[in-house]
Amino acid sequence: MKTTKSGKLANKRLAVLGAGKIGGILLRAFLEQKLVPAKNVHATARHAEKAHALAKQLGISASTDNRAAVRDADIILLAVKPQAVREVLEEIKPEMKPGKMIVSVVASVSTQMMEKLLGLDLPVVRAMPNTPCAIGCGMTGLAKGVHASKEHLEIAQAMFEAVGRVVVVDEKQIDAVTGLSASGTAFIYIILESLAEGGVKVGLPRDVSTLLAAQTMMGAARMVLDTGDHPALLKDAVTTPAGSTMDGILELEDGKVRVTLIKAVMKATQRAKELILEP
Ligand SMILES: NC(=O)c1ccc[n+]([C@@H]2O[C@H](COP(=O)([O-])OP(=O)(O)OC[C@H]3O[C@@H](n4cnc5c(N)ncnc54)[C@H](OP(=O)(O)O)[C@@H]3O)[C@@H](O)[C@H]2O)c1
Repeated sequence: MKTTKSGKLANKRLAVLGAGKIGGILLRAFLEQKLVPAKNVHATARHAEKAHALAKQLGISASTDNRAAVRDADIILLAVKPQAVREVLEEIKPEMKPGKMIVSVVASVSTQMMEKLLGLDLPVVRAMPNTPCAIGCGMTGLAKGVHASKEHLEIAQAMFEAVGRVVVVDEKQIDAVTGLSASGTAFIYIILESLAEGGVKVGLPRDVSTLLAAQTMMGAARMVLDTGDHPALLKDAVTTPAGSTMDGILELEDGKVRVTLIKAVMKATQRAKELILEP
């Protein structure tokens, strides 16, 4: 068992309701990081064959029975699609006893909405992780509901710090986190792919080009994170007067890359707001 910064996860039992793409990524990462032992986990899926495959692969309990998963759990990680939230919360309501907490990665469904659907004053923490959690390089935004204490937030923090970095935000900012770091991975893949296509266009083999693009993006991101310098300052350091970088930058500005990326984050954030369930 990993000793977390708070030590709050020791001996906790985890239910993962909806171990699909993100639920499965997080579950695998938590097990790999030894955050929870396999014997303390019960995961669910809608289809029995999916649950059966998970149980076999990961050595955990898995079923289609959300109530059974919640019955023995301390932490309930909710990872179903927004449309399934109402049904799942109604199903688990009879098992939601004091001492349990919900950590929800479901986009667009507020803590208030979940509390209302459960009809209980239970601690709910919303988390918005991204897929690089699979390799321990995730970015997660956390926001707590009114019944969640500092201690509940620390439990969620310990979970997601095991698979990357965490920021705590006010719940009204969580859709922005969705638009930037959760949807943002897809934007970054498009940029990376396009840079690699550029390399192919100027004669590099595709595999070499993809490696150059990916390592360059990672290096640039690490420079920002490790130095704390403003990206503009780091960009200026690469841009020699009348050099080739400046010619490339001119093309980017001409193609409105900045405004396009700003609008992409705005649209994705807006869409996350629109997906909200009716109470
Ligand atoms: N994908 C991401 O990068 C990402 C990032 C952050 C947050 N999220 C949020 O995470 C949630 C899930 O997204 P996803 O991409 O992981 O979707 P997904 O792959 O479709 O996973 C949803 C899972 O829920 C299961 N499920 C559906 N109804 C259920 C029920 N009644 N009881 C138990 N399990 C049920 C499905 O089971 P079957 O497999 O048997 O159908 C599936 O395993 C969404 O709300 C999304 O907003 C996703």
